[in-house]
Amino acid sequence: MTTNDILSLARTVRSRAYAPYSKYHVAAVVRGVNGKLYAGTNVENIAYPVGNCAETSALAAMIADGETRITEALVIGPEGDLCTPCGACRQRLREFADNDLPIHLADPRGIQKTVTLGDLLPLSFGPAFLKK
Ligand code: THU
Repeated sequence: MTTNDILSLARTVRSRAYAPYSKYHVAAVVRGVNGKLYAGTNVENIAYPVGNCAETSALAAMIADGETRITEALVIGPEGDLCTPCGACRQRLREFADNDLPIHLADPRGIQKTVTLGDLLPLSFGPAFLKK
């Protein structure tokens, strides 16, 4: 699949976001090393802290499918916003990717910027720290 296919999937899935409280609709798509795409949206809850970010949902779908490594990610938010993964989701992505992971930041018009996980989470604490 191409980056355009990731974007098209992200747009579709974002339209299904469950965000009745913030009204801030987000989708995330991650590509596993197996080549498959896994998508998720934010899922809010009336007990606000219980809500999930889109990245968390996408990663859960990936793990449920048996994949544990990511080669590419995309996050899409509302038009005009450069929606970046929150701090906690940067760490969640780090669990399954290295610092050179490309993360496309998109809005409904298209990809606005591509950064790496290392840009967003410098000097990160990753799984290798506990394998010494
Ligand atoms: N949100 C995400 O799902 N991912 C991000 O990268 C940033 C924020 C969600 C959480 C909440 O449902 C809404 O956006 C407003 O914070």
